[in-house]
Amino acid sequence: MIAVRAPATSANLGSGFDVFGVALSHPADVVAVERAEETTIEVTGTGAQYIPEDPESNVVGAVADALDAPAHIRIDKGVRPASGLGSSAASAAGAALALDRLYDRGNSREELVPIAAEGEAVVSGTAHTDNVAPSLLGGFTVSSTDGIRSVDASIPLVACLPDVAVSTRDARRVVPETVDIESLVDTVGRASTLTLGMCRSDPELVGNGMIDTVVTPARAELITGYADVRDAALEAGATGVTVSGAGPAILACCRTSDRRSVAAAMVDAFLEEGVDARAYQTEIGPGATVL
Ligand code: HSE
Repeated sequence: MIAVRAPATSANLGSGFDVFGVALSHPADVVAVERAEETTIEVTGTGAQYIPEDPESNVVGAVADALDAPAHIRIDKGVRPASGLGSSAASAAGAALALDRLYDRGNSREELVPIAAEGEAVVSGTAHTDNVAPSLLGGFTVSSTDGIRSVDASIPLVACLPDVAVSTRDARRVVPETVDIESLVDTVGRASTLTLGMCRSDPELVGNGMIDTVVTPARAELITGYADVRDAALEAGATGVTVSGAGPAILACCRTSDRRSVAAAMVDAFLEEGVDARAYQTEIGPGATVL
Protein backbone atom coordinates (compact mmCIF):
# COMPACT_ATOMS: atom_id res chain seq x y z
CA MET A 1 0.00 0.00 0.00
CA ILE A 2 1.22 3.49 -0.83
CA ALA A 3 -0.30 6.67 0.64
CA VAL A 4 0.35 10.18 -0.62
CA ARG A 5 -0.56 13.58 0.86
CA ALA A 6 -1.38 15.94 -2.01
CA PRO A 7 -1.86 19.63 -1.21
CA ALA A 8 -4.64 22.03 -2.16
CA THR A 9 -3.62 24.63 -4.71
CA SER A 10 -4.66 28.04 -5.90
CA ALA A 11 -4.59 28.63 -9.65
CA ASN A 12 -4.54 31.77 -11.80
CA LEU A 13 -3.48 34.23 -9.03
CA GLY A 14 -5.38 36.90 -10.97
CA SER A 15 -3.06 37.76 -13.82
CA GLY A 16 -2.05 34.18 -14.72
CA PHE A 17 -5.26 32.59 -15.96
CA ASP A 18 -4.63 28.89 -16.74
CA VAL A 19 -0.88 29.52 -16.23
CA PHE A 20 0.01 30.33 -12.60
CA GLY A 21 -0.51 28.06 -9.60
CA VAL A 22 0.75 27.66 -6.06
CA ALA A 23 0.75 24.72 -3.66
CA LEU A 24 -0.82 25.58 -0.30
CA SER A 25 0.72 24.21 2.90
CA HIS A 26 -2.81 23.09 3.88
CA PRO A 27 -5.48 21.74 3.44
CA ALA A 28 -4.63 18.48 1.58
CA ASP A 29 -6.08 15.17 0.37
CA VAL A 30 -4.61 11.79 1.32
CA VAL A 31 -4.77 9.14 -1.41
CA ALA A 32 -3.99 5.49 -0.53
CA VAL A 33 -3.65 2.80 -3.22
CA GLU A 34 -3.40 -1.00 -3.25
CA ARG A 35 -2.97 -3.23 -6.32
CA ALA A 36 -6.21 -4.81 -7.60
CA GLU A 37 -7.56 -6.53 -10.72
CA GLU A 38 -9.92 -3.64 -11.40
CA THR A 39 -10.01 -0.05 -10.20
CA THR A 40 -12.42 0.68 -7.36
CA ILE A 41 -12.71 3.96 -5.48
CA GLU A 42 -13.77 4.86 -1.95
CA VAL A 43 -14.12 8.50 -0.87
CA THR A 44 -14.30 9.85 2.69
CA GLY A 45 -13.81 13.28 4.27
CA THR A 46 -14.93 16.81 3.37
CA GLY A 47 -17.68 16.81 0.74
CA ALA A 48 -17.27 13.08 0.06
CA GLN A 49 -21.03 12.77 -0.51
CA TYR A 50 -20.71 14.91 -3.67
CA ILE A 51 -17.93 12.86 -5.26
CA PRO A 52 -18.77 9.90 -7.52
CA GLU A 53 -17.04 6.61 -6.69
CA ASP A 54 -17.56 5.25 -10.22
CA PRO A 55 -14.07 5.13 -11.85
CA GLU A 56 -15.59 6.46 -15.12
CA SER A 57 -16.69 9.67 -13.39
CA ASN A 58 -13.99 10.17 -10.74
CA VAL A 59 -10.75 12.02 -11.58
CA VAL A 60 -8.58 9.22 -10.22
CA GLY A 61 -10.22 6.65 -12.52
CA ALA A 62 -8.79 8.52 -15.53
CA VAL A 63 -5.37 8.65 -13.84
CA ALA A 64 -5.38 4.88 -13.13
CA ASP A 65 -6.30 4.27 -16.80
CA ALA A 66 -3.57 6.59 -18.08
CA LEU A 67 -0.95 4.75 -15.99
CA ASP A 68 -2.46 1.31 -16.72
CA ALA A 69 -2.41 0.81 -12.94
CA PRO A 70 -5.65 -0.75 -11.64
CA ALA A 71 -5.99 -0.36 -7.87
CA HIS A 72 -8.30 0.01 -4.93
CA ILE A 73 -8.02 3.75 -4.32
CA ARG A 74 -9.07 5.41 -1.06
CA ILE A 75 -9.35 9.19 -1.10
CA ASP A 76 -9.62 11.05 2.20
CA LYS A 77 -10.74 14.52 1.14
CA GLY A 78 -9.28 17.45 3.06
CA VAL A 79 -9.97 19.80 0.15
CA ARG A 80 -13.67 20.50 -0.34
CA PRO A 81 -14.97 19.89 -3.87
CA ALA A 82 -16.09 22.89 -5.98
CA SER A 83 -14.04 25.20 -3.74
CA GLY A 84 -11.53 26.80 -6.11
CA LEU A 85 -8.74 25.19 -4.09
CA GLY A 86 -7.83 22.46 -6.57
CA SER A 87 -9.87 19.71 -4.95
CA SER A 88 -10.00 17.41 -7.98
CA ALA A 89 -6.37 18.23 -8.80
CA ALA A 90 -5.21 17.19 -5.31
CA SER A 91 -6.89 13.80 -5.73
CA ALA A 92 -5.55 13.42 -9.28
CA ALA A 93 -2.01 14.44 -8.30
CA GLY A 94 -2.04 12.19 -5.22
CA ALA A 95 -3.31 9.23 -7.25
CA ALA A 96 -0.76 9.82 -10.03
CA LEU A 97 2.20 9.80 -7.62
CA ALA A 98 0.85 6.91 -5.52
CA LEU A 99 -0.01 4.67 -8.52
CA ASP A 100 3.28 5.45 -10.23
CA ARG A 101 5.19 4.34 -7.12
CA LEU A 102 2.89 1.32 -6.52
CA TYR A 103 3.56 -0.02 -10.02
CA ASP A 104 7.19 1.23 -10.23
CA ARG A 105 6.41 3.14 -13.43
CA GLY A 106 9.41 5.43 -12.87
CA ASN A 107 7.82 8.67 -14.06
CA SER A 108 9.27 11.92 -12.75
CA ARG A 109 6.91 14.40 -11.09
CA GLU A 110 7.11 16.55 -14.23
CA GLU A 111 6.06 13.54 -16.33
CA LEU A 112 3.13 12.89 -13.99
CA VAL A 113 1.67 16.39 -14.55
CA PRO A 114 -0.05 15.64 -17.91
CA ILE A 115 -1.19 12.26 -16.55
CA ALA A 116 -2.85 13.88 -13.53
CA ALA A 117 -4.33 16.51 -15.85
CA GLU A 118 -6.28 13.73 -17.61
CA GLY A 119 -8.25 13.56 -14.36
CA GLU A 120 -8.90 17.32 -14.45
CA ALA A 121 -10.48 16.91 -17.89
CA VAL A 122 -13.07 14.58 -16.35
CA VAL A 123 -14.44 17.36 -14.11
CA SER A 124 -13.82 20.58 -16.01
CA GLY A 125 -13.73 19.47 -19.63
CA THR A 126 -10.18 20.85 -20.06
CA ALA A 127 -6.91 19.09 -19.18
CA HIS A 128 -5.42 22.29 -17.72
CA THR A 129 -2.32 21.76 -15.57
CA ASP A 130 -2.30 24.88 -13.38
CA ASN A 131 -3.63 22.99 -10.33
CA VAL A 132 -2.03 19.55 -10.79
CA ALA A 133 1.42 21.06 -11.47
CA PRO A 134 1.74 22.82 -8.08
CA SER A 135 0.16 19.88 -6.26
CA LEU A 136 2.86 17.60 -7.68
CA LEU A 137 5.83 19.98 -7.84
CA GLY A 138 5.13 22.37 -4.96
CA GLY A 139 5.96 26.09 -4.82
CA PHE A 140 4.90 28.54 -7.53
CA THR A 141 4.39 26.98 -10.95
CA VAL A 142 4.09 28.40 -14.45
CA SER A 143 2.24 26.11 -16.89
CA SER A 144 3.22 27.67 -20.20
CA THR A 145 2.70 26.40 -23.75
CA ASP A 146 6.47 25.81 -23.83
CA GLY A 147 6.62 23.76 -20.63
CA ILE A 148 6.05 23.74 -16.88
CA ARG A 149 8.45 25.41 -14.48
CA SER A 150 8.42 25.81 -10.72
CA VAL A 151 10.21 27.84 -8.08
CA ASP A 152 10.03 27.71 -4.29
CA ALA A 153 8.65 30.86 -2.70
CA SER A 154 7.82 31.87 0.84
CA ILE A 155 4.57 33.85 0.72
CA PRO A 156 1.86 34.02 3.47
CA LEU A 157 -1.67 33.54 2.14
CA VAL A 158 -5.27 33.39 3.31
CA ALA A 159 -7.72 31.22 1.37
CA CYS A 160 -11.23 32.12 2.46
CA LEU A 161 -13.84 29.54 1.47
CA PRO A 162 -17.54 30.48 1.60
CA ASP A 163 -20.13 27.82 2.21
CA VAL A 164 -21.32 27.81 -1.42
CA ALA A 165 -20.19 25.79 -4.44
CA VAL A 166 -19.14 27.03 -7.90
CA SER A 167 -18.43 24.43 -10.58
CA THR A 168 -15.33 24.90 -12.72
CA ARG A 169 -17.42 24.23 -15.85
CA ASP A 170 -19.78 27.11 -14.96
CA ALA A 171 -16.92 29.44 -14.06
CA ARG A 172 -15.21 28.74 -17.39
CA ARG A 173 -18.35 29.65 -19.31
CA VAL A 174 -18.19 33.29 -18.12
CA VAL A 175 -14.57 33.85 -19.19
CA PRO A 176 -14.42 36.47 -22.00
CA GLU A 177 -13.40 35.04 -25.37
CA THR A 178 -11.37 38.06 -26.46
CA VAL A 179 -9.22 40.74 -24.79
CA ASP A 180 -8.31 44.21 -25.98
CA ILE A 181 -4.69 45.30 -26.33
CA GLU A 182 -4.85 47.56 -23.25
CA SER A 183 -5.92 44.62 -21.06
CA LEU A 184 -3.23 42.45 -22.61
CA VAL A 185 -0.50 44.96 -21.78
CA ASP A 186 -1.84 45.39 -18.24
CA THR A 187 -2.04 41.62 -17.69
CA VAL A 188 1.50 40.97 -18.97
CA GLY A 189 2.79 43.71 -16.68
CA ARG A 190 0.96 42.35 -13.64
CA ALA A 191 1.98 38.77 -14.36
CA SER A 192 5.61 39.82 -14.69
CA THR A 193 5.45 41.73 -11.40
CA LEU A 194 3.94 38.70 -9.69
CA THR A 195 6.64 36.38 -11.06
CA LEU A 196 9.36 38.72 -9.84
CA GLY A 197 7.63 38.82 -6.45
CA MET A 198 7.63 35.01 -6.24
CA CYS A 199 11.34 34.86 -7.10
CA ARG A 200 12.04 37.40 -4.33
CA SER A 201 9.43 35.99 -1.87
CA ASP A 202 8.03 39.52 -1.68
CA PRO A 203 4.30 39.66 -0.70
CA GLU A 204 4.04 43.30 -1.84
CA LEU A 205 5.07 42.53 -5.42
CA VAL A 206 3.00 39.32 -5.53
CA GLY A 207 -0.06 41.22 -4.27
CA ASN A 208 0.42 43.99 -6.86
CA GLY A 209 0.64 41.38 -9.57
CA MET A 210 -2.57 39.60 -8.55
CA ILE A 211 -4.79 42.23 -10.17
CA ASP A 212 -6.60 41.15 -13.32
CA THR A 213 -9.15 43.07 -15.38
CA VAL A 214 -10.21 40.23 -17.68
CA VAL A 215 -11.25 36.99 -15.95
CA THR A 216 -11.66 37.99 -12.30
CA PRO A 217 -14.38 40.65 -12.82
CA ALA A 218 -16.51 38.14 -14.76
CA ARG A 219 -16.07 35.44 -12.14
CA ALA A 220 -16.57 37.79 -9.19
CA GLU A 221 -20.22 38.03 -10.28
CA LEU A 222 -20.63 34.35 -9.32
CA ILE A 223 -19.46 34.95 -5.73
CA THR A 224 -21.87 36.69 -3.35
CA GLY A 225 -20.05 39.47 -1.49
CA TYR A 226 -16.80 39.29 -3.52
CA ALA A 227 -16.19 43.07 -3.58
CA ASP A 228 -16.89 43.47 0.14
CA VAL A 229 -14.65 40.57 1.11
CA ARG A 230 -11.84 41.88 -1.15
CA ASP A 231 -12.11 45.38 0.32
CA ALA A 232 -12.18 44.05 3.90
CA ALA A 233 -9.04 41.98 3.25
CA LEU A 234 -7.21 44.95 1.72
CA GLU A 235 -8.21 47.16 4.64
CA ALA A 236 -6.87 44.53 7.08
CA GLY A 237 -3.48 44.60 5.35
CA ALA A 238 -3.70 42.21 2.39
CA THR A 239 -1.29 43.18 -0.40
CA GLY A 240 -3.50 41.63 -3.08
CA VAL A 241 -6.77 39.72 -3.40
CA THR A 242 -8.27 37.62 -6.19
CA VAL A 243 -10.57 34.70 -6.94
CA SER A 244 -8.81 31.42 -6.16
CA GLY A 245 -8.97 29.22 -9.26
CA ALA A 246 -12.55 29.05 -10.50
CA GLY A 247 -13.86 30.19 -7.08
CA PRO A 248 -15.71 30.55 -4.82
CA ALA A 249 -12.65 30.67 -2.51
CA ILE A 250 -10.99 34.08 -2.37
CA LEU A 251 -7.20 34.24 -2.05
CA ALA A 252 -5.40 37.05 -0.22
CA CYS A 253 -1.67 37.61 -0.16
CA CYS A 254 -0.26 39.33 2.94
CA ARG A 255 2.60 39.68 5.37
CA THR A 256 2.77 37.08 8.17
CA SER A 257 1.99 39.74 10.80
CA ASP A 258 -1.32 40.59 9.05
CA ARG A 259 -2.48 37.06 8.20
CA ARG A 260 -4.70 36.51 11.23
CA SER A 261 -6.51 39.85 10.88
CA VAL A 262 -6.92 39.42 7.11
CA ALA A 263 -8.50 35.99 7.72
CA ALA A 264 -10.89 37.37 10.35
CA ALA A 265 -11.87 40.36 8.17
CA MET A 266 -12.70 38.09 5.22
CA VAL A 267 -14.84 35.70 7.28
CA ASP A 268 -16.68 38.65 8.89
CA ALA A 269 -17.34 40.28 5.50
CA PHE A 270 -18.87 37.05 4.17
CA LEU A 271 -20.98 36.75 7.33
CA GLU A 272 -22.31 40.28 6.78
CA GLU A 273 -23.56 39.05 3.41
CA GLY A 274 -25.26 36.12 5.18
CA VAL A 275 -22.68 33.59 3.95
CA ASP A 276 -20.79 31.27 6.32
CA ALA A 277 -17.11 30.95 5.49
CA ARG A 278 -13.88 29.53 6.84
CA ALA A 279 -10.42 30.93 6.29
CA TYR A 280 -7.27 28.85 5.90
CA GLN A 281 -4.25 30.76 7.17
CA THR A 282 -1.74 29.12 4.91
CA GLU A 283 1.35 29.76 2.76
CA ILE A 284 3.06 28.44 -0.34
CA GLY A 285 4.16 24.89 0.47
CA PRO A 286 5.75 21.73 -0.91
CA GLY A 287 4.23 19.33 -3.43
CA ALA A 288 2.76 15.88 -2.84
CA THR A 289 4.62 13.68 -0.35
CA VAL A 290 4.69 9.90 0.00
CA LEU A 291 3.68 9.13 3.60
N1 HSE B 1 -7.36 27.72 -14.42
C1 HSE B 1 -8.56 27.02 -14.08
C2 HSE B 1 -9.72 27.98 -14.14
C3 HSE B 1 -8.41 26.49 -12.69
O1 HSE B 1 -9.58 29.08 -13.62
O2 HSE B 1 -10.75 27.63 -14.74
C4 HSE B 1 -9.65 25.88 -12.15
O3 HSE B 1 -9.54 24.51 -12.03
